[in-house]
Amino acid sequence: MNLFRRKSVTALQQEALTDQSLKRALGPLNLTMLGIGAIIGTGIFVLTGTVAAQNAGPAVVLSFVIAGVASIFAALCYSEFASLVPMAGSAYTYGYATLGEFIAWIIGWDLILEYALGAVTVAIGWSGYVVSLLNQLGIHIPPELTAARGQAVVLADGTTVTAIFNLPAVFVVALVSALLVIGIRESANVNNVIVFVKVGVVLLFIGGAAHAISAANWTPFIPENTTGEWGKYGWSGVLQGAAIVFFAYIGFDAVSTAAQEAKNPQKDMPVGIIGSLLICTVLYILVSGIATGIVPYAQLDVPDPIAVAADQAGLGWMALLIKIGAIAGLTSVILVMLLGQSRIFWTMSRDGLLPPFVSAVHPKFKTPWITTIVTGIAVTVPAGLFTVREAGSLVSIGTLLAFVIVSLGVLVLRIREPNLPRAFKTPWIWFVAPAGALSALALMASLPGRTWARLLGWLAFGFVIYFAYGVRKSKLAQTPGGV
Ligand code: ALA
Repeated sequence: MNLFRRKSVTALQQEALTDQSLKRALGPLNLTMLGIGAIIGTGIFVLTGTVAAQNAGPAVVLSFVIAGVASIFAALCYSEFASLVPMAGSAYTYGYATLGEFIAWIIGWDLILEYALGAVTVAIGWSGYVVSLLNQLGIHIPPELTAARGQAVVLADGTTVTAIFNLPAVFVVALVSALLVIGIRESANVNNVIVFVKVGVVLLFIGGAAHAISAANWTPFIPENTTGEWGKYGWSGVLQGAAIVFFAYIGFDAVSTAAQEAKNPQKDMPVGIIGSLLICTVLYILVSGIATGIVPYAQLDVPDPIAVAADQAGLGWMALLIKIGAIAGLTSVILVMLLGQSRIFWTMSRDGLLPPFVSAVHPKFKTPWITTIVTGIAVTVPAGLFTVREAGSLVSIGTLLAFVIVSLGVLVLRIREPNLPRAFKTPWIWFVAPAGALSALALMASLPGRTWARLLGWLAFGFVIYFAYGVRKSKLAQTPGGV
C-alpha cells in the first residue's frame, strides 16, 4: 500500500486539456465576479462590527490588512497551481500532484469544512437577514420555521417558541442548488447580477458616508488592553481580530474549482483569484475605516453594523439597501461555495476516492448534477448543529489548513520539477510560500482549542473513510500511473 502515490503533473495537464465533460463557458470577468461573489458576505457586513467592538477598536482596519496580506500570499500560490494544474479539484488535486494521495484525501476532506460548512454558515446568516427584512416589510414567517430544530426563538413580546426547522435556510440552499444543476453559464450570470448589487451597495456606503467621519472616533486607534486578557484590544486584539475577519476573505480560492469550466484557465485563473481578492481587500479597508470613523467602536457590536454607520451618517434610507446588499451578498457566497464543493467531490470521485455516482454529469446541462443535489441536501442538515460563530471558526480553520498545504505544495513542486512550463509564477517564491504557510498557521493558532479539537475529530473521521474505501478503490491503486 503506497499512501504517497502521486499523479504526475503532465498526466493531470493532459487530463485537464482533453476532458470536455464540463462546459467551458467562463472568461476572466466571470471568474473575477465568481471570486467577488464568494468573498463579500457575512464577514464585512457583520464581523467588522463585532471585531471593532470586542477586539481591535478602530484598528479593525489593521486586522483587515493583516488577514488580507496572509490571503494574498495564499492567492499567489493558488494562482501558480491553478494555472499549472487547472483541475476542478483545486487544493485537493494540487496535493495529489505534490504530496501524494493520502495528503490529497486529507485536503479534500478538509475542504468540506470550507465549502459545505461555509455554505451552511452563510445560509443560516441569510435566513436571519431575510426574516428581519420581511418583518420590516410586514411579512411574518412563523417563528418556529426560522431557526434550527430545538433552538429557542425569542418573540417581540419576550416569550419564546421552540423552532422546528430553518425554512429560509433550506429554501435558499435548494434554490441555489437548482440553479447550479441547470448550468454554469446561468449560474455565472445570476452571480454577476448579485455581485453588481452588493458591490454597488458597498460603494454607495463608501461614497455616501465618508463625509461623516470624525477623527475623534479613531483616537485611540488601537485601544489599550487594560485587562491583560489576550485578544481584548491592544496588539493582541488586532491579531485575534485578524483571525476572525479572515472569514471575510474566504472564497477567492473557490475560483480555482471552476478551472475546468474556464475558457482559458492558464491565463485567466490568476486574474480571477488575485483580481477578486485585491478588489475586496481595498473595499474592506475602506468600509471598516469609514464605519469606525462614524460610530464609536463600542457601539458597533450589532448584527448590522454597516447599516448603523449609514444611519449615523444621515443615510437612514440606506439601511434597507444595505440589508438587500447583504442578502444579495450572502446568496452569491452560498452559490460559489456549493459550486466549489460539488466540483471537488466530482474530482475526488473521478480519482476513485469517492463512489462513481458522484461524478455523473448531466447529459444536457453538463453539470455534476447528482453531487450538486446530494451536497445541497447534505448542507441543510448541519444547519441545526452549530451556531453561526462556531461553524464560522471551523470554516476558517479548515480553509487555513488548505492554505498551509497549498503554500508548501507550490514550493515542493518548484524544487521537484523546476522546469515545468508555468504560465504564472508566484513571485519571490522563497519568501511568499513560507510566509503564506506561516501566516496561515499563525491565524490558526489564534483560534480557540475547541475549534482545533473539532478539526482533528473531522480529520480522524476522514481517515476512517479513506482506509475503508479510497485506499483500495483509488484509480491509482488499480492502474499505477503515479510518479
Ligand atoms: N467571505 C465570505 C463571507 O464573508 C465567506 O461571508
